[in-house]
This record gives sequence, structure tokens and C-alpha cells, in this order.
Amino acid sequence: MDIITTPSYEALSKEAAAYVSRKVQENPHIVLGLATGSTPTGMYEQLIKNHITLGTSYRNVTTFNLDEYVGMSKKNHNSYYAFMEKHLFQHIDIQNEFTFIPDGMSDPQKECGLYEEKLRKHGPIDLQILGLGANGHIGFNEPGTPFCSRTHVVELTDSTRKANSRFFKGIEDVPTHAITMGIDSIMNAKEILLLVSGAIKKEAFEKLLYGEISEDFPASILKKHPCVKILADQSALDTSSIIA
Ligand code: F6R
Repeated sequence: MDIITTPSYEALSKEAAAYVSRKVQENPHIVLGLATGSTPTGMYEQLIKNHITLGTSYRNVTTFNLDEYVGMSKKNHNSYYAFMEKHLFQHIDIQNEFTFIPDGMSDPQKECGLYEEKLRKHGPIDLQILGLGANGHIGFNEPGTPFCSRTHVVELTDSTRKANSRFFKGIEDVPTHAITMGIDSIMNAKEILLLVSGAIKKEAFEKLLYGEISEDFPASILKKHPCVKILADQSALDTSSIIA
């Protein structure tokens, strides 16, 4: 794993966006795997700036998002569909029919099969962006998920629901289940860019770097991937930033 540290979240976002933009320029038909959550929002902001200032075009780019909440309509502002529209898609020239996100309102099991079919048809993913869960999850693959899993329905752990409740009125409003690309579906990507930011990720990051490969810590499988780049900001490394 190639690890790069940056002094701040802003620097991490700029570095990540510069990397992704370069990949898009090199391969205008690139297939990107995208994540939601707090970590990549700065990168998306920078990608929009690059699109406007440098003219990086997404016209022929295909994207696959990692996950969506079960029972969540696209219209709900907490859906990952709405997240992607707000933070990226509506600001760039990407074509709607090339952006894939699991449909939270479809029959969940059928949707998983369909998503895998789409991955087979339009994939493989050239560059997968990942965030790191504080419990080591990638996508919504919670601890204990088999490494061989493909797109599936997960029951979210209490810790993940609690972490995500910051976007909802309260934890009781956070859905209990999600559809997520599986660990094997993620590992199928040709290249992976993992973004790690904030003191809250310090423990998980340490475990990723120094711990063993185990299904109890899903992100640990990344050590087996031939092409992983990690961008981590200083606060994900510093003990002092936890106190600050
Ligand atoms: C999001 C996703 C999750 C997040 C992870 C970190 O699509 O699949 O694995 O990447 O929970 O979330 P943040 O960035 O909000 O800390």
C-alpha cells in the first residue's frame, strides 16, 4: 500500500482530486467507484473546481456508488443518490445513465443481483474511492462480513448507525439496513484510493497499518490488493489532535 500523508483535510482533498482528475483526463471512459460520507466531500468540491477551471470532462465517465440505505427514496435528502447529486453530479457534465447507485426502494435482494449484473456489464471499476469506517468497514461491509461477499444487504451495526445519525434528526431515523457492494466486488477494482481523515479514524487507521488481515476488520483485506493508494491527513495520525 502506497501511503501519503497530508498536513490537513484540505490538502488531502486537493491531492485526491488532482489524482482523480488526472486519471479522468488520461482515460475519459474511466469507470470510477464512488463513496459518500464526510471524507470525500472536500475531494468532490475540488473535482468540481477542476471541472470548471481546467475543463475536466465527465461526459464519458461511468460511476458506481458503494451503497444506499434500504427503504430510502432518491428524493430523501439523506439518500446517497441525493448526496451524489448535491456534492458532485449536478455540478459536472456526467450523464445520468452512466451513474449507478443501488436503488433503495427496489426489492433489496433483486437489486443486489441487478447491481452485480451492471458491474459485470459496465465494469470493471478502474479506480475505487473508499472512506474508512471507524470500525474498519469499507462500503457498508461491517466487521464479520466474508471477504468473498458480492453486493448484498447488510444490517448496519449500532456504531455505524450512531456515527451516521449526525445527518438525521436522531438515531431512530437512521435506516437499519443498506445495500452495499461486497468486499470482493470492491477488491475487483483495478486500483483503490482510500481516504482517511480525522482523529476519529486514528485507531482504525493504526489497525489497518499494523493489524492482521481479518474479516473482523474489513479494511484489512486492502493489504492484499495489488494497487492501493492511501491518503491520510495529519489528524488521522496524531494523538494530539484527539485532545485538541
Ligand atoms: C460511504 C461508505 C462508508 C464511508 C465510511 C466513512 O459510501 O461506504 O464506508 O466511507 O463510513 O464515512 P465518513 O467519511 O463519513 O467518515
